[in-house]
Amino acid sequence: MSRSIFHKLLILCMCSSLIGFLMMVMNIGFNCQNVEHQKTGLAKEINEKYKRQMNELEAKEKNINFISKRLDFLQTTLRRQYPYAVDYISQITDDDLPTIYAITPTYTRHVQKAELTRLSQTFLHIKNLHWIVVEDSENKTPLVAKFLERSGVVFTHLNTKTPQYYQLGENDPSWLKPRGVEQRNLAIDWLVKNVDANKEPGVIYFADDDNTYDLQIFHEMRNTQTVSVWPVGIVGGLKFERPLVNAEQKVYAWYTAWKPERPFAIDMAGFAINLLLVQQNSEARFDIKAPRGYIESSYLIKIVKMEDLEPKADLCTKVYVWHTRTEKPKWKQEDILIKQGNPSDPNIEV
Ligand code: UGA
Ligand code: MN
Repeated sequence: MSRSIFHKLLILCMCSSLIGFLMMVMNIGFNCQNVEHQKTGLAKEINEKYKRQMNELEAKEKNINFISKRLDFLQTTLRRQYPYAVDYISQITDDDLPTIYAITPTYTRHVQKAELTRLSQTFLHIKNLHWIVVEDSENKTPLVAKFLERSGVVFTHLNTKTPQYYQLGENDPSWLKPRGVEQRNLAIDWLVKNVDANKEPGVIYFADDDNTYDLQIFHEMRNTQTVSVWPVGIVGGLKFERPLVNAEQKVYAWYTAWKPERPFAIDMAGFAINLLLVQQNSEARFDIKAPRGYIESSYLIKIVKMEDLEPKADLCTKVYVWHTRTEKPKWKQEDILIKQGNPSDPNIEV
């Protein structure tokens, strides 16, 4: 081989290695650029993902704040709610609770609807309450029928008119004749005929339409086994009357100023009876002929002994029911209008 060919070959070799080397360098550069590019892309993506997650987190945090505020509000309202009351979130019935049958005699007068409204809106708070309303009237009146329909309380509507002889005259003092006796007896008839206390446990309570009831009293009476008793406020000319309870937690006497010799010197609002006891004594009723103040005793002596009474309301030291009485409204102006033949609109029910 001649020297010039060898030189040419050497130069060719060097050139190609140079080209190869340049290509390699360029390729590395290109790759680096690519990596750089990928890097920024990834960073952008991560950044966006981060922003998205932050936004989501913020939204979640706002939601949590909102929910916790709502929870706080609900908790305060729940705390304000009476502990034994219907909470309107749950059902008004509870299979584990005996039914309270509240028996209310009532009669037509100017304040009747107002009295029934007050009473029904107390009862709306009580679970498993069945209201037996007995009108002292020849027929059921539309006022009471309509009232009960829209009251929201589970009810039975009955009526029986007090016999003429026992009816109070317009200007008679209220104590002259017994009140609500035949009506309570009719409710007992109904309970004896229509409910089986062996299958459906119950408690009966005589709730006059003009008294005032703390919801606690219904909790106290709910699990009455025989007859439960408690104090009544503003009654018998005293601040309160109450059963007196001894160290064995038994009732032994009555704190009362009026006729303390009565076997059960207690107002109608001061006791409740297990329905089974009522049904076991299915013939027993209140005696309309009983002397004044003896109506309650006339029934209780037939069904229970003093030693079997169950003192409630912290051993009869708390007042949860008041024998309030509603003033007769002044109607003088209305009477004048009636005489003039121009009474207030009779289509507006009061
Ligand atoms: C007191 C007792 O608290 C009553 O339970 C008891 O029946 C009465 O005495 C009585 O000795 O007979 P008092 O406030 O004087 O109660 O009686 P009211 O509230 O006027 O009447 C008791 C219930 O009978 C009420 O629910 C009332 O609406 C009803 N009533 C009254 C009638 O059904 N017809 C009437 O003519 C009068
Ligand atoms: Mn009364």
